[in-house]
Amino acid sequence: MKFGHFDDSRKEYVINTPRTPYPWINYLGNQGFFSLISNTAGGYSFYMDARLRRITRYRYNNVPLDMGGRYFYINDNGTVWNPGWSPVKTELDEYECRHGMGYTIIKGKKNGLKAEVTFFVPQNYDGEVQQVVLTNEGTEAKSFSIFSIAEWCLWDAQDDCTNFQRNFSTGRVEIEGSTIYHVTEYRDRRNHYAFYTVNDEIDGYDTDRDAFLGSIYNGWDNPETVKADKPSNSFADGWSPVASHYKKVTLAPGESKTLIYILGYAENPQDKKFAAEKPANLLTREAWVLNKEKAYAMIDKYNTPEKVAAGLEELKTTWNNLLSIFKVDTPDDKVNRMVNIWNQYQCMVTFNLSRSASYFESGIGRGMGFRDSNQDILGFVHQIPERARERLIDIASTQLSDGGCYHQYQPLTKKGNADIGGDFSDDPLWMILSVAAYIKETGDWGILDANVPFDDDPDGKHTMLEHLDVSFYHIVNNLGPHGLPLAMRADWNDCINLSCFSDTPGESFQTYTNPKFKAEGGYSKIAESVFVAALFTYTGPAYVGILEHLGKADEAAKAQAEIDKMKKNTMESAFDGDWFLRAYDANGEKMGSKECEEGKIFIEPQGFAVMSEIGKDVGADIKTLNSIDKYLNCEYGLVLNNPAFTKYYIQYGEISTYPGGYKENAGIFTHNNAWIICAEAYAGRGEKAFEYYSKIAPAFTEETSDIHKTEPYVYGQMIGGKDAKNFGQGKNSWLTGTAAWNMVAISQYILGVKPEFDGLRVDPSIPAAWDGFTATRQFRGDTYEITIKNPDHVNKGVKSLTVDGVAVDGCIVPVAGDGKSHKVEVVLG
Ligand code: BGC
Ligand code: NOJ
Repeated sequence: MKFGHFDDSRKEYVINTPRTPYPWINYLGNQGFFSLISNTAGGYSFYMDARLRRITRYRYNNVPLDMGGRYFYINDNGTVWNPGWSPVKTELDEYECRHGMGYTIIKGKKNGLKAEVTFFVPQNYDGEVQQVVLTNEGTEAKSFSIFSIAEWCLWDAQDDCTNFQRNFSTGRVEIEGSTIYHVTEYRDRRNHYAFYTVNDEIDGYDTDRDAFLGSIYNGWDNPETVKADKPSNSFADGWSPVASHYKKVTLAPGESKTLIYILGYAENPQDKKFAAEKPANLLTREAWVLNKEKAYAMIDKYNTPEKVAAGLEELKTTWNNLLSIFKVDTPDDKVNRMVNIWNQYQCMVTFNLSRSASYFESGIGRGMGFRDSNQDILGFVHQIPERARERLIDIASTQLSDGGCYHQYQPLTKKGNADIGGDFSDDPLWMILSVAAYIKETGDWGILDANVPFDDDPDGKHTMLEHLDVSFYHIVNNLGPHGLPLAMRADWNDCINLSCFSDTPGESFQTYTNPKFKAEGGYSKIAESVFVAALFTYTGPAYVGILEHLGKADEAAKAQAEIDKMKKNTMESAFDGDWFLRAYDANGEKMGSKECEEGKIFIEPQGFAVMSEIGKDVGADIKTLNSIDKYLNCEYGLVLNNPAFTKYYIQYGEISTYPGGYKENAGIFTHNNAWIICAEAYAGRGEKAFEYYSKIAPAFTEETSDIHKTEPYVYGQMIGGKDAKNFGQGKNSWLTGTAAWNMVAISQYILGVKPEFDGLRVDPSIPAAWDGFTATRQFRGDTYEITIKNPDHVNKGVKSLTVDGVAVDGCIVPVAGDGKSHKVEVVLG
């Protein structure tokens, strides 16, 4: 069952009912100001950091689920309704929500009155513009009223939802004309404020939540002022400050009125915090006055429909440009819409927000993840390489000089989170991969010389290359009894906690380390990760390639020897006959082996082992891929492990605590499905690669949205696996490494357009039925118009490649570097 459709020409998903199986959301903003907005206008806004700079309040885990946001209420002669249906939930005569690239349009119609609201965050602007167009489509004149509402968060979202004894007495506002300012804590320790304005005179307002709702027993679905059609002109003093504008409107038949609301955020320099004079119409109870210069300028920027139209156009142009860097035309529409629109869009969102703020991530739990943000760059780097570069330097600066890393950092402070700490065994390797991806995309070798400090030596002069060195050797210097990398606190799979042995509720599986390992430095020196071994052999060659390019032949040879040794150790100690083991636990026992009772096979190490060609000479790659097909493949994708754990294994940790089929215990973890898609494509098995891709790519789940539940335009982290009661049900949509990895899987492995240090590789691995496809790729200043022909209907194999008619050996298009457009023709066979 579908709840809408794709409108590819406008790059939108069109939702035709407010009753989607879960709130289907969109993100507005891609620089500093961000908003989450659902198809019923739920959600919230923040600046830079969803925890430390939350602008509007939102209650997670609420009942009903999606309640609170920015809402408009219309009182049309006693009928109260919202353009997005919620929160009043009056049945609408018409409803539509269009989620587009950085904007959302919600349309509602009731009793001949149409309200169309366009929400967006303009480029280079710290505010959300909400344009409301009200049209009387009836035959009689209509008089009605419109109320707006936004509930302020008291800035620190964590504190806001816990520290009520203080927070109920700190709220402060100022009101000037049609603009309501939120100035809690501004006088003392903050230099930032927020405002909510409308470009017209208002007939009343409210700034105190209880006054707006009329009673502490009312919810957002039942505000007394709206029902009574009478604002209370309240002035907030502590409790919960809100911003609500009240406006009476009369429209002749066919007439429209446009109101432009802006929810903005601004910061003032320390010495310009206060205004010298108090304007006559200012409502305040303070002796000081907020300096509103920045707000005035922001309001002026979008206070007419013409300015709003221009801002929206600018946003659309920005996205059209971003999406023209890589474009394809394949025989499959769903592939086209994923590659050309939605997957790339999601990559921008994950790049911006890592795993911080979604409808499943509360924005207060995690900042930016070291491994997460490094992987996000893989899918994003072609869009705005300069931003990727800046991010790489920020992330690397949270690394320690021994190669260890802070696992997370706050975007506002750019400092590592000490409460989580480090010792996640995979973290350093992702940085080698992301820095290499950046160089392959841009050819900017200069990044290696960039001055990047270590967290434990903030003033020292260090280069990015040193960060790569210590990353690589952090693995080499921390090997266990089989010569495989120590698992430490956890590897990519946060839920395999081999040093934890937790039997006490409340302990974090990931940060708790058994006192028994205290003397050894906090974690077991026996437990080893085969996943990290395989990731090391997969990423290592990029590091070697970098050293070779720099003319450091000896160091390159030394690193290559470590990679070869790791491959040998893996084959000798971690190949289980038909697939690779997952780990050795702290007791030295095999995990993910046919000898195990449960969890005999795991997905994570397999793809990287295959792509590293470990044991390829004895057929380990194909055996492994066939085992995955046999044990992990099911209707909705590949499960993470099989059989699912049914018991608690204290030596494994969190993974065995999930009911079978969910999350890391045999859920379909879409992130590592991508690694298998890549591996199948790498091995030349284009049918399998495409089968796995089409099981999880969102556009392919659209028809079964009633089962899948989450948005059909973006990946979620997880789909219920075959052991789950809710088999096929998506969860944790939007913020997942799946976005980047599936972008890599489809574009670089299946469609085979892959940046390399010395050019653009074109080597597809596609379904044999395809006659071919075309692609446009802007790369290092040139544009490559690529045509792939598949006359023999093979999966893989470049028979010939020409650039502007001239034959090239192999499948790497050399960099032309002339800023021109070039024709690349590839014949498979
Ligand atoms: C989840 C993981 C996640 C981790 C983050 C775990 O509970 O299952 O998916 O990576 O928490 O802290
Ligand atoms: C989600 C986390 O963001 C990521 O870092 C982790 O690798 C996966 N879950 C698997 O546990």
